[in-house]
Amino acid sequence: MPQGFLTWLDAQQGRQYELHERHINPAFVKTIRTIGFDRNYIRGEGEWLFDAEGHRYLDLLTGWGMFALGRNHPRVRSILEQVLSRDMPNLVRMDCSLLAGLVAEKLVSHACADSGQGLSRVFFCNSGTESVEAAIKFARCHTRKPRILFCDHAFHGLTVGSLSLNGSEFFRERFGELMPGTEKLPFNDLAALERALQAKDVAAFVVEPVQGKTCEVVADGYLEQATRLCHRAGALLVVDEVQCGLGRTGKWFAFQHWREAEPDIVCVAKALSGGYVPVGAVISRAAIMDSVFDGMERCVVHSNTFGQNDLAMAAALATLQVMEEGEIPSRVAKLGESTIARLTEIGRTCPFVYDVRGKGLMFGIDFRRPESPLKLRAAWDALHLLNEGVFSQTVIVPLLHEHHILAQVAGYHTELIKFLPPLTVSEEAIDYFLVAMRKVLDNLQRPAAAWDTVCTLAKGAATQLTR
Ligand SMILES: Cc1ncc(COP(=O)(O)O)c(C=O)c1O
Repeated sequence: MPQGFLTWLDAQQGRQYELHERHINPAFVKTIRTIGFDRNYIRGEGEWLFDAEGHRYLDLLTGWGMFALGRNHPRVRSILEQVLSRDMPNLVRMDCSLLAGLVAEKLVSHACADSGQGLSRVFFCNSGTESVEAAIKFARCHTRKPRILFCDHAFHGLTVGSLSLNGSEFFRERFGELMPGTEKLPFNDLAALERALQAKDVAAFVVEPVQGKTCEVVADGYLEQATRLCHRAGALLVVDEVQCGLGRTGKWFAFQHWREAEPDIVCVAKALSGGYVPVGAVISRAAIMDSVFDGMERCVVHSNTFGQNDLAMAAALATLQVMEEGEIPSRVAKLGESTIARLTEIGRTCPFVYDVRGKGLMFGIDFRRPESPLKLRAAWDALHLLNEGVFSQTVIVPLLHEHHILAQVAGYHTELIKFLPPLTVSEEAIDYFLVAMRKVLDNLQRPAAAWDTVCTLAKGAATQLTR
């Protein structure tokens, strides 16, 4: 490789799809090409992506939620550069990292600020799924009970433990036997939870306060009652805030919207990365961690090689500082509320829109077969005959092609389009999004023109590219 790495890299531009097709994931490339998403992005700044042709795109997908501060936040980058320039020892392993201690201190202070008293220990890992794996192990070790409860439509990651808590058959099937002792419950159903806890053999109930796949929010009173039911049965309440945590819903942690919710374990990841370095964290009551690491011999009985690495910790610290100084959670609460309200208004103008829901800057539009007019119902049926999951593409495709807005389908075989803007997104960008959304929804009601293109694009795409 020649000396100037970036010059060399620039010379390779344009080869990415061909390389991925050959060496990484041809099915993915086929899907991206089929729906015309095979752009050549070369730069990211805040809520914007730029392609090689000089087009600007509004990023409401944020890398599945990790760019909470937008791309290349100058403060996070500067802190990372400073850390890199220091030649720090990093991951000595037979010492204690100052950076990790400082991140833990901040996470704990925010977790305990409202409800959440007693969440005083942090375990660091490298991803969301790894944080859920740790939560499962910690809960079993602390309670010495076998079963784990989870919710319908839940998404907690794709490694075997977290996959065993996945609420969708699509992700589970074909991977053989998953972890035993798990049980799926309907979301927001306290009676089902109470029944499942009856035998007192449950280690944990794992729940997303706002579900990533559905944008459904826990009902008022649900987490409080779940706390009570779990604790009465000797089970732990684990809230998975990998996606909805760290300001995303308008509080530092989503569970803090409900004052008497008292989770025992909180999982975070995505946003903590500052958009730069993979990281995950499990925040837990001290007694739980003490059961796991209960002596010198077992002090690394659950551990990993890369956890607490300097760059991840510096990115996390920088992220938390930026969020604190910008009072990001309160900003999100206000902007999210007005955005969801405005989108709901727009949704009322379109018979395909069934619901607009979410919390803060995590929201989605749910579509359904319209009762009337007949013309639209027939168009819906025709599209579903073509491909079960294709309707959502009639929204995300024109959003990208005509308005340069990047969004995602939230779940497999669902009709929900989800939006996860950066928490720092400007009000102007939100205005731009809402105007575009209105146009896309208006166009959906003129099937002939808009749908022809989309049908052609979507015909070959048997997948919805969902996570
Ligand atoms: C709620 C939730 N938990 C866990 C995960 C898994 O995180 P990761 O992809 O970092 O493993 C995700 C990822 O989307 C998520 O949304």
